[in-house]
Amino acid sequence: MTPIKECLINKSTRHKPIWLMRQAGRYLPEFRDIRKENPNFIELCLNEELSEVITLQPIKRFDLDAAIIFSDILMVPFGLGQNVEFKKNLGPQLGGIDIDKILLLDDEGFSKKLLPVYKLLKNLKNSPDLINKDLIGFVGAPWTLLVYMINKVSPKNGLVKNFFKDEGLIRNLLSILDKFIKLHIKNQIEAGATVIQIFDSWAGLIQNDFEKYLYEPTTSLVEYTKSLGSSVICFPRNIKNYQTYCETIKPDAINIDYNANLENIFNNIKIPIQGGMNPEILLSDKKTLKNETKKYLDIFKDRPYIFNLGHGILPNTDPNMVDYLVKMVKDY
Ligand code: CP3
Repeated sequence: MTPIKECLINKSTRHKPIWLMRQAGRYLPEFRDIRKENPNFIELCLNEELSEVITLQPIKRFDLDAAIIFSDILMVPFGLGQNVEFKKNLGPQLGGIDIDKILLLDDEGFSKKLLPVYKLLKNLKNSPDLINKDLIGFVGAPWTLLVYMINKVSPKNGLVKNFFKDEGLIRNLLSILDKFIKLHIKNQIEAGATVIQIFDSWAGLIQNDFEKYLYEPTTSLVEYTKSLGSSVICFPRNIKNYQTYCETIKPDAINIDYNANLENIFNNIKIPIQGGMNPEILLSDKKTLKNETKKYLDIFKDRPYIFNLGHGILPNTDPNMVDYLVKMVKDY
């Protein structure tokens, strides 16, 4: 069995597998080289040859236990027909929503638009670089995609003033997202993904209506993924109550963020845990990195634990620090 499955299904505590969010990305010079020649990020995600090269870049450098496909959570809004652009230093920028047009979209039209993503998985499935490694597919959670679709830009500085005003639009979008995120999950599993991760990067912004925006829509995806016989890891970044989240949604594992209280997590979370370490630790020195890494490995020593970070690797990370980290986890 692959290392992450071993942890999630057999609840093995013997080995601590490791992969890192954004392991394929701008901290790698070989990624930046490709990116320079491919200024259109969406087009790059739709180029299955280059996406395969990029997915495997961290695997060729480091002894990681899983590859995560090079893609983006915003490929779903793109598949729904919304314009998505990535502007340098500005992050993603989305276009207007034509709800009537979206309501006309069928499964085939959506799957066709994202076909290169599924081809990428099919090609990677047989890659000699991924023997006995997991191949992780992913989606954005409905709430986080709703945020990008309505807010149009990253909500780093908060949600737009009228975000919740159009209740009809929100209801429609949540139902559309449920349907097409499920289709995207199914297509990825059929193409070869061994595990699905659900990214809810903006879960921490939810203040009210947790049932409507967090629990109900995510439970629907988790149950669906399990019904397909796959495993599912959830990453609800910055939430306050991990225990209620896990007991309600019941994912196979939970990726904690770096604000999570470790003692609390240790005492109250009974499912396999992934992640936690602050990616800024990779910007410090080897001694600090060693101590912090050890902290996570020691606490979760007798638990099924997958080493990862509390958010994605930062672009100014030195790949040598990542190398040091991976070796340390492997030698533990
Ligand atoms: O290596 C991997 O983790 C796999 C690929 C991956 C990317 N995005 C590639 C990417 C994954 C899993 C994602 C998920 C994603 N995308 C999330 C959830 C995780 C998180 O970071 O909270 C979100 C919110 C997005 C949306 C998104 N994509 C943003 C906000 C940005 C711009 C911010 C930034 O970091 O520049 C992206 C762009 C993006 N997605 C890059 C990569 C490698 C950088 C693109 C570049 O080269 O400019």
